[in-house]
Amino acid sequence: MEEFWRIVGEDGRIEPRDVMPEDYRASLVRQIAQHAHSEIIGMQPEGAWISRAPSLRRKAILMAKVQDEAGHGLYLYAAAETLGVDRGELLDKLHDGRQKYSSIFNYPTLTWADIGTIGWLVDGAAIVNQVPLCRCSYGPYARAMVRVCKEESFHQRQGFEALHTLSHGTPEQHAMAQDAVDRWWWPSLMMFGPHDAESTHSEKSMAWGVKRFSNDDLRQRFVDMTVPQAEALGLTLPDPDLRWNEERGHYDFGTIDFTELFEVIKGNGPCNAERMATRRGAHEAGAWVREAANAYADKHARRTA
Ligand code: 3HC
Repeated sequence: MEEFWRIVGEDGRIEPRDVMPEDYRASLVRQIAQHAHSEIIGMQPEGAWISRAPSLRRKAILMAKVQDEAGHGLYLYAAAETLGVDRGELLDKLHDGRQKYSSIFNYPTLTWADIGTIGWLVDGAAIVNQVPLCRCSYGPYARAMVRVCKEESFHQRQGFEALHTLSHGTPEQHAMAQDAVDRWWWPSLMMFGPHDAESTHSEKSMAWGVKRFSNDDLRQRFVDMTVPQAEALGLTLPDPDLRWNEERGHYDFGTIDFTELFEVIKGNGPCNAERMATRRGAHEAGAWVREAANAYADKHARRTA
């Protein structure tokens, strides 16, 4: 393992054929698979609004974004497969609950303002959490994240712009935007995971050069970045304890209710059952495509053998 630690110590990249500790490989499979699952489940809350977008322009933007998320899932399943697992096996683990996806996608999208808010807050949080992953020690994951992050920045900007239109629109539109932000702010902070002291993987993940900054550091970075944006939107963030702390050079913010995060992770969020039923249904409905693709691949292999 000397070579592994030399490469990690020099901030190099571990490639699929390199010798690596089994727990490094297993933790990467866990994180990359759950990241991929989050991308494909994340298509559902926004996909529900494609047919109800308020204009052709918004519909086209939302279709492009949801399609991007599917692509992110594919990149990430492909990155996971370089670690010797099969995406079919990973999807089975998602469907039977042995693997999870991000808590954030278990909340409902009640109005069109939710779509702008998801882009602004959820994809904004994703960028803060995922840009450092472009420099993580595992080569295929780091390289997959470069394109994912470029597309996430489009996702965040389109969300901010959609929300800005609403927050500067009629009083009813402003109220709709404020209601969505009130509902999505705290779940967005939970995306960064438990506090560092309660994080089961951070210590090893940081030693391996996978996690580059702690959950709390990235959460703080997200809050510091987002507060001025909320001011530009003319919207308030639902936290009475939010205030600039000159001494710290950061915003202080209120206590996060992590019992909500753990309840949602356990499956008790508002939309967990619906998301998984839709996911399993899509997988079953797509079986014929997988069979046809495998039959074609077998035929092609026989022809070229
Ligand atoms: N939702 C679900 N599970 C969560 C979670 C959340 N918001 N936050 C933490 N967890 C889980 C972890 O997966 C871990 O459980 P496990 O052992 O079963 O995997 C447990 O809670 C303890 O958390 P840790 O902090 O110890 O776990 P990690 O070191 O893995 O950190 C993480 C959690 C920051 C989410 C990290 O896994 C990570 O950076 N993952 C890659 C990015 C990612 O998956 N983001 C999900 C957002 S979806 C997205 O970005 C799509 C975009 O289009 C919006």
